[in-house]
Amino acid sequence: MSDPTQLLAAYRRDGFVVVPPMTPHEIWAPLAGELPSVFAEAGPQRFFEEDGTTVRAVYGLHRKGGPWRALAEASPLTALDRLLIGEDMYVYQWKVNPKAARLGDRWQRHRDFDFRQAADGMRRPAALTAAVFLDEVTEENGPLRLIPGTHPDRPAAAEPPGGAGDEEDDWAWITSNRLAYALPDDSTEELARTRGVYEATGPAGTTVLFHGNLVHSSGPNRSERTRTLALISYNAVSTAPPAGHPGARPDFFVNHDAKPLPAGED
Ligand code: SIN
Ligand code: MN
Repeated sequence: MSDPTQLLAAYRRDGFVVVPPMTPHEIWAPLAGELPSVFAEAGPQRFFEEDGTTVRAVYGLHRKGGPWRALAEASPLTALDRLLIGEDMYVYQWKVNPKAARLGDRWQRHRDFDFRQAADGMRRPAALTAAVFLDEVTEENGPLRLIPGTHPDRPAAAEPPGGAGDEEDDWAWITSNRLAYALPDDSTEELARTRGVYEATGPAGTTVLFHGNLVHSSGPNRSERTRTLALISYNAVSTAPPAGHPGARPDFFVNHDAKPLPAGED
């Protein structure tokens, strides 16, 4: 691990850190071979782009074992997560966003906590997401764009959006290119101008760890290369959403078992 004191200071200041490809590469590399079958698996955990055929996101990977579980529990990763979260944690959400070549669309500026609070009743933004690059990410294929220092901002008191989710299986407000809690362009333009925007690029295996209240987005993929991100969100056990919260997302979306992970050693 790079110097833990510096990593923690950078995370507290900026709300994210970027670390070079995790070693050994066997921790993350085997997932590439698993992706076709996960994308082909029909079910409520799979979401498409507007064309209805290009896979945009697959949730619920905490329910799979093998290399999925191995990555989420790999000690070089959990040691970092534990350092940054600072308390016992568990895998809250485990998803893959492939952002297909030419067809993968944007994710508007948002804070993950707004969705977690509205949907699941999460009370405090202690969670972080580890975005592990399963492809090389460049400026052209739709990198994550993070606005540094936005994580301590006071979260909005989000209610589930009126009218959305009327259909039991209509989760477009969380997964589409028009998010229910997309932040207004005018206020975030100002934020982007004053604080700058960090575009997270790098070779496969690079990992970005970002705070659940950090403003982030990504543009469409206009290139000929996919931009697959493994997105594993770890939450503090003390902030596990209350059981039985009305409207809480089902198990194919989030993990309701807050059993702590063993903290990794590095
Ligand atoms: C996210 O905000 O969940 C990820 C956005 C992306 O895949 O670029
Ligand atoms: Mn997000």
